This record gives sequence, C-alpha cells and structure tokens, in this order.
Amino acid sequence: MPERKEKFYLTTPIYYTNGLPHIGHTYTTVVCDTVRRYKRMRGYDVVMTTGTDEHGVNVERAAKKAGIPESEFVANMAEAWRSLWDELGIPADEFVRTTDLNHVRAVQWLFKLCKENGYVYKGHYTGQYCIHDNAFVNDAKPGDNCPDCGRPLETLTEENYFFKLSAFQKPLLDFYRKNPDFIQPESRKNEIVSFVEGGLKDLSITRTTIRWGIPVPGEEPHVFYVWFDALTAYLSAVGGPDYEKRGMWPADVHFVGKDIIRFHTVYWPAFLMAAMLPLPKQVWAHGWFLMDAAKMSKSKGNVVLPRPIANLLGMDALRYFMLREVVFGQDGNFSYDSLVTRYNSDLANGLGNLASRTAALIEKNFAGKVPKPAERQPQDDALANGAQSAIGEVLERFDKMEFARALEAIWGVIAAADKYLTTEQPWALGASEADQSRKGTILWTTAELLRIVAALAHPVLPDSTAKVWALLGQTTPLDSFELDGLRWGQLVPGTTLGKLQTLFPRVDKTEAIERIEAMANEELSSASAAPKPASAPATPAAAPAVPEKIGIEDFAKVEMRVGQIKTAERIVGADKLLKLTVDIGTEIRQICAGIAQFYEPESLIGRKVVVVVNLAPRKLRGVESNGMVVAASVGPEGRPVLAGFLEDVEVGARLK
Ligand code: MSP
Repeated sequence: MPERKEKFYLTTPIYYTNGLPHIGHTYTTVVCDTVRRYKRMRGYDVVMTTGTDEHGVNVERAAKKAGIPESEFVANMAEAWRSLWDELGIPADEFVRTTDLNHVRAVQWLFKLCKENGYVYKGHYTGQYCIHDNAFVNDAKPGDNCPDCGRPLETLTEENYFFKLSAFQKPLLDFYRKNPDFIQPESRKNEIVSFVEGGLKDLSITRTTIRWGIPVPGEEPHVFYVWFDALTAYLSAVGGPDYEKRGMWPADVHFVGKDIIRFHTVYWPAFLMAAMLPLPKQVWAHGWFLMDAAKMSKSKGNVVLPRPIANLLGMDALRYFMLREVVFGQDGNFSYDSLVTRYNSDLANGLGNLASRTAALIEKNFAGKVPKPAERQPQDDALANGAQSAIGEVLERFDKMEFARALEAIWGVIAAADKYLTTEQPWALGASEADQSRKGTILWTTAELLRIVAALAHPVLPDSTAKVWALLGQTTPLDSFELDGLRWGQLVPGTTLGKLQTLFPRVDKTEAIERIEAMANEELSSASAAPKPASAPATPAAAPAVPEKIGIEDFAKVEMRVGQIKTAERIVGADKLLKLTVDIGTEIRQICAGIAQFYEPESLIGRKVVVVVNLAPRKLRGVESNGMVVAASVGPEGRPVLAGFLEDVEVGARLK
C-alpha cells in the first residue's frame, strides 16, 4: 500500500458578507494559496479552506437595506466571494458558509461538548443597546449614542449563555509555553501572553436579541453569537463531528490578520480545550495593507480592488507585489505607484526579460533545442553554485513564512544571470566550433538557472512560472513537481523549447495607473448600484421579506383553532413529513406536517397545537392533508417549532 502523504491543513479567516473583497482580504487568501502550493510541492496532502461568515446584526441590516431576505442576501454575497477567488486563481479546496447545515450542526455539537464538560452556564449580559437597530453596541458606555444611527443607547440586560473563559487562563499559558511556535510572529505572542496573564473574563456566547443566527437547540430565542459560530467553521470545513474520518484536523496553520489574533489564540483554543478536541498547531497573524497609512475600509472610501489589477497586470503581478513588498507579519503600504514600479523592474525587466532573451538566443543559435554544455569556466560554476545554494535558502525562507526574503533570494539569482549574460555576451560569439561550444555552455547555464527559478517561484507566481516551465520544454506539471528533488544540472540537452510568449509586457506607469483606477471606479459604482451580484443565483428564502399590511377582515378569513394530536406516524418515502390525526373540537382531521426531521412521532401524542382549519385540502406525497399545523420557522435552516400555549386551553377554541 502506498504510504499516506503527510497532511497539511491551512485556513484563511471566513470573511464577513456585509461587504465585498478588497486587497486586504486578497492578501490573506494569496498567502494561504502560496503556502498551499508550496506544501504540495514539498509532497504534502494539503487542504486549504476559506469561506463566509454570514450571521449577525450587520447582515440583518444589510439585507433589510437591499430589500431581500437574509438568506438570499448571504447566498448572493457568498457567491460573489467564491467566484472572485475562482477568477483570481485562489479558490479554496473547501468553502465554508456559516449557514451550511453541516456548519450549523458542528456549532451545536461543539456547544453541547462544552456544556457537557461544565464550561457553559446561563447568566445575564448587560450592555448598551440601540432600540432602533436592535443591537448591542460593544464598548459603549451608559449615556452614549449609537455610532451607526446616532440615537441614544439604553442599558439593557438579556439572558445569555456564557463560556467559562476564566477557567482557561492557566491552561492557555501552559499551552503557549509548551508550544512556543503556536503564535506567530513572536511580537504578537508576547502581546497575547500578557493579555492572558492580565486575567480572562467569561464570555457571552449567545444572544436573544439577534434573530439571524444559529439556534441554540431547545433554547430559543438564543442564537450563537459571532465568534463561537465563526471559529467553528475551521472544524466544520473538515468534517465537524466526524473530523477524525477526514483526518485533516487539527489545522496546521490559521492565517489571520492582526485584528483577529486574540479570538484565534485565546477563545478558539479555549473552546477546543473545553470540548476536549485537538488544538490547531499555529496561528500566523500578518499585518495590514494600509492606504496612505490608514487601514482600508469601505466607509473611508480607500479600498483597493484586486480585479482591476489582475486584469491589467495579471494576478501574478499582484501576488508578487504583496509578498515581496511587505515583510510578512508587518504592516505595509499599498500604492499603485510602487506596484507598477515593481512590475516593470522585477517582472518585465527581470524574470520576463531573462526568459525571453535566453529563449530567443537558443532559438536563433540552436534551432530551439537546449544546447549541450561543454567545458565549464569559473564564472559558469559561480552562477551554478549561486543557484544551487539559493534552493536551500528559498525552501528555508518559505518554511519560515519569510516570503519577501525567499523572493529576494530568487531575484538575486535572476540578477546574477543578467549580469552573466551581459559579461559573457553569447550574441557576440562567432560560428567557430569553439565559439559555438562556449555559446552552448552559456545558454544551457542560463536555461538551467531559469528552470530552477521557475520551480522555486512557482508558489508565488503560478501562471508565469508555468509558462517558463513549458518554454523550457518541461512536461511534468510544475504544480506537482517535488521541490525536494530540485538540483542544479537536471536540464536535459536536446530538449525542444516551447513557444516563446511575452510574460510581462512593460507598461507606462501613468497610463497603467489611470486604467486600473478607471476599472476600479467602475466596479465600485456598479457594486453600490446593485447590491446583489448579477451572476449570483437566487436561493429560497428562509426568512420572509417584510410583508404588505392587511386589514383585519383579511386576517378574519383564516380560521385557526386549538387542536390536539391524537396519532402521529411517519410517511414511507417522505422523510420530512408526518401524518397526524388532530382533534379540532368538531371533528378529527388528517393533516400532514413537515416536521419529521425535528419531532419524534411519539412525543407529539396529546400535544395541543394551533391548526388552520379552513385551508383547502391537498395531497402531499399521495396522502390527503386537511388543514395545517402552525409552526415557527427558526434559524437559517428553517427548523419548525410548533406553536402552543402556556396555559391549558380547550380543544376547538378559536384564535382571534
Ligand atoms: N469574519 C471575521 C473572521 C472570522 S474567522 C473565524 C472577520 N472577517 S473580515 O471580513 O473582517 O476579514 C478580516 C480579515 O481580512 C483579516 O483578519 C485579514 O485576514 C483580512 N484583512 C482585511 N483587511 C485587511 C487589510 N487592510 N490588510 C490585510 N488584511 C486585512 O474578521
């Protein structure tokens, strides 16, 4: 049996759906994709996940503003995120949506484990609440106004479930000590350790004032609040309760921005400890991409979009810029000026030029076949040694997530080759046997160097390096090429070169910036004009849109009565339906109800329910249904909860 490859599981955060992706989000996803490609080339079985964080008040509001139900709103947004990642060539292997049923189940399962182990209790949460927006405002003080609508806030207390975070101060500090690489970079680790040393307060993990969330089973109207829901996505992506079957959990690394490091290095390991589940191996927090020293945000109007850049310069150019320009872990400034400058100098004049020069010279002098190297001179060896030692250095840099350093080493090799060609001047050599042979050695050497550069730079520049690879006549797919086997000297003389294509056409800076900005403006104005992306499929609504008002006479047309369930049975071939007989005071009715997945038939016998008695009869799966039992549709999965009464009521009584 072939040995199973070692697994590697990495994640991006799951992004909020109340906005669309900008280059800040793209940065995290690009980093993750780069590491995924790198690890695959090192022989790992890799899974990368991303997804969308779809619950909460902000989504409720955005959907209301767009005039569509939340479920439709988030489906459109998730589709927009997913399709952008596809378009940019950075799709995840698993895309989690927090409204997916698998995810809903995983959150409820994690809660159950924490509760069974004694780390969850009911308490009261008091905060500043905006009646108008139906939401607590974090960090507000009594007397403050709502930062969104400006109205005065009110102090409100609600019942919440709390997680005993306070019990994890020591276990967390022990964990950080035993796993010194868990939090990266080091500077962030110190910050988190002092935060935890300062003491941890218990955490409210449910809300009763939010509707759009995952229900806490049997505890309506409690829904899970933000982080308990969102963080669990990392587990639900790889099997949730069945994570052992998939064999990917625990995550090898969670990549996050520095804004959310605390949730990932304090809350998340504490939840998992409470549930007695394995902990992720590492959380890597990178810095922000800033625009004129400020964090990008829609409200500041300073967002940079990835698509226009990818359209004009290619996605490889954006990837290269992001990873080369900024030291991973630190903040960096984004400017179109430095993007285009790097594009022209490092990509068009650097890699692109070396590839086209080498290929054109081989084409002209050796009929497009890789020449055979003859006797080597010291300068050939120097170049070879430089490239060979770059292999080790680059792999080490990638292992440490030092992307800028890895690229610097690769571009050092490119610069050495440029210099080598300029001094050796193969184009100036004649047609004599000795000159031809020298030319062959020089061009084999630069071609071999290019092969090594292509393999090493592939995780960062997947498209253009694949083109260089094909140009050098390499037939094994570059993305599955094993970097561990990369050595100087493997380029086979006589290999036929592929077709030469311009990798990075030079651009005029001013013109390029104008074009990118024009495309970005167009995209931003069409996004704000149309809240739903045109290509997104509509999905069935779980929550109703605000209905039209009706008069009392319309309501009076619906006759509802108290009924009592006499019998209940499953219907063969219809796994959602139960066949009920219900006493409505004047007669016994047969009614089908779509509640089979949530209620055991036996548990319903004798229960008093609300029945719409004047609905026209209809057949469901061949069984006649004469009336309707009323239920609330709860949460994103639309779970039915039967309506009932707290006091005892007479069967047949009319609801008015
Ligand atoms: N939904 C939460 C995360 C839940 S993870 C269980 C969230 N979403 S978010 O849409 O706001 O995305 C935040 C992430 O986007 C950051 O952590 C970071 O990865 C990325 N970035 C957003 N803006 C950024 C910059 N300006 N620069 C770099 N990355 C930034 O928080």
